Order: sequence, then C-alpha cells, then structure tokens
Amino acid sequence: MRVLVTGGAGFIGSHLVDQLVGRGDDVCVLDNLSTGRIDNIRHHLGRPRFALVNETILNADVVNRLVEASDIVFHLAAAVGVPYIMEDPLGAISTNVEGTEIVLRAAFRFWRKIVLASSSEVYGKSTKAPLAEDDDRVLGPTTVTRWSYSSSKAIDEHFAYAYAARGLPVVILRFFNVYGPRIHENGYGTVVARFIQQALNGRPLTVHGDGRQTRCFCYVEDTVAGILLAAQTPEAEGHVFNIGSAVEISIHDLARLIKRLTGSSSEIEFVPYRDYYGLHFEDTPRRVPDLRKARRVLGYEPRVPLEQGLERTIEWCRRHNFLLPPSRRAVQVTGS
Ligand SMILES: NC(=O)c1ccc[n+]([C@@H]2O[C@H](COP(=O)([O-])OP(=O)(O)OC[C@H]3O[C@@H](n4cnc5c(N)ncnc54)[C@H](O)[C@@H]3O)[C@@H](O)[C@H]2O)c1
Repeated sequence: MRVLVTGGAGFIGSHLVDQLVGRGDDVCVLDNLSTGRIDNIRHHLGRPRFALVNETILNADVVNRLVEASDIVFHLAAAVGVPYIMEDPLGAISTNVEGTEIVLRAAFRFWRKIVLASSSEVYGKSTKAPLAEDDDRVLGPTTVTRWSYSSSKAIDEHFAYAYAARGLPVVILRFFNVYGPRIHENGYGTVVARFIQQALNGRPLTVHGDGRQTRCFCYVEDTVAGILLAAQTPEAEGHVFNIGSAVEISIHDLARLIKRLTGSSSEIEFVPYRDYYGLHFEDTPRRVPDLRKARRVLGYEPRVPLEQGLERTIEWCRRHNFLLPPSRRAVQVTGS
C-alpha cells in the first residue's frame, strides 16, 4: 500500500507510521512540524519506503499531488491542544476546517479512501455517560474560544459525511484522551504529560478545579489499532466511531496514581481553572466513550490497562529527559 499520513510526525501519527512502515507499506508523511517533532520519525528518515514532506495541509497543490500518489489517506494533521487553540484561534480554525476540506477534496478528486481523526471534544460538555456516536453535542457559547476546536472537528465530520453521501469511502474516528510515549505537554493529553513531568521533577502535581472531573485515557497503541481496523473494514465506510478506553478515572486519582508509579514525593495541589485558562474557560466533568459500535463493526477492543500504559509512558519520559524544562529538552529527545 502507498499510504499518506497527514500529521505523521505528531504523537499519534508517528505511532501509526511505525505500524505502517513495519508492515511494509510505502509511507509518506505530510506535516509542517508545528507540534509534530522530527525526533518522532527520525528513525524512518533515509529509508527507501519512507518520505517526509514538510509542508502545510493548506497547500492544496502539494496535498493533491500526495493524495494522487497514495492508495489511502490517514488525516491526522490538526491544531491540537487547548493551549494552542487559545493562543491562535484563527490559525487553529483555519488548519482544522480549511485544511481538512482541502484533504477531503483531494481524496474525492482522486477517489482515495480516507480515515479522518476527529475527537471526543465533539461531544462538548455533555454529561451523558457513556457517549454514543449519535448522541447530542452540548456546547458553550461561541464567545468561549475552547469550543472552536469542538466545532471545527464537527464541521470536518459534516464535510466527511457530505463526501460519503457522494460515495467517497471515508471513516471518521473520535479519539478519547490518548497518552503514551512521545506525548507532549501542550498536546491534547496534556494532563498525563504534565503530571509525569511534575512528579519526575519533584514539583507539585497541579490538579485543575476540584479534581473530581473524570476522563478515560487510551494508550496510543490501542488508538492506532482502532485506526488500522477502521482502514481495513469496508463496513466502516460512511460511519463514525468512538475510539478509546471505557475505564474512567478522576483527575485527582490520576495524580495519585502517577505519584505512586513514579515514586515521587510531590504534593498534589488544586488550582482554579481561571489561573490557567482565564475566567471563561469551561471544562467537561465527565467523558466516557460508548464502544459498542466500534466493537461490533470494527472488532475494536482496547487492551492496555491504564497502570501498564502509564508505566511505559513514565519509562519513556525518564529516558527522554522529562526532568528538563521543554525548551532545553527538545534537542536531546530521540526516536521511539
Ligand atoms: N491526542 C489526543 O488525545 C487526541 C484526542 C482526540 C483527537 N485527536 C486528534 O488526533 C490527531 C492527532 O493528534 P495528536 O495528539 O497526535 O497531536 P499532534 O499535535 O502531536 O499531531 C498533530 C500533527 O499535525 C501537524 N500539523 C498541524 N498543523 C498542520 C498543518 N497545517 N499542516 C501539516 N501538518 C500540521 C503537527 O505538526 C503534528 O505533527 C488530531 O487530528 C487530533 O485532533 C487527538
């Protein structure tokens, strides 16, 4: 297979690339390295069946050329992570809406199957648990920047459905809180990275709010398994699937667990949201995926227990100098 992975130098994308290269595919990564890291894919550089194109998905000519040369497209490139969205709302919306439109249009033009990364953020602040794919979205006002990410991913899904209605083979995946090696502090799974870094540095683990908000964390290997299943299951085309783990943990308990697994003597400190995100930030109290559809259609089953996944992540963080501040660490990080 000739495979195009947009965002392939990113956290999830690079793990997907490892699997694809490992099974013998010709892999091309299109990534502008905005949040992706060359170190995530350095071990593939120079291999005959691997190519990196350092360019933005907003460049339609490049996207067209690369999509035409591929058999399948995995579209993961996006502006990800609350800090980035809050910092540059316009850039984030443009990448996540216009960029996805360009990639989808190219897939339609050259008639290529496409697997599209969406997010549990699409559900917004819905308190329903578990969340099924056809459940309502519940969002705050448009004056709250945070919701632009949710809305942009939802627009991407609408675009995808519109192309699917015209026959394009497209599968949409909503990832729920992914963590694992190559995680980065400002990314989507920021809380796991932040706690590990704080614990390894002996600094207080800062829990936002009262810590009773819960999340379901999915080890990156399980996320990638879901992506590959979606690509190889024809019945999945035209559908959206939750991909994640259904095991729920409060953020306070996550802090306690990471403290224990790292053997850290750090305190756990509660910090109001407004100190980080300003007055108008809204968080989601709970977010649990309903995995029945993914199990039924894709045969998807997350396998890595949280404690085991965290141990592997902590081990990676130790090896990759999470003891240093990010600015000094970047140059020292190496591949897997
Ligand atoms: N990590 C999670 O928990 C999570 C949860 C839900 C959804 N997702 C989705 O999964 C996908 C991958 O996320 P990730 O966690 O690996 O984040 P990431 O930031 O590590 O990966 C995104 C990649 O896209 C690249 N990129 C950004 N803008 C680009 C542009 N204009 N042109 C080309 N490349 C560009 C970045 O450099 C990066 O390599 C994203 O679509 C994200 O929305 C992630």
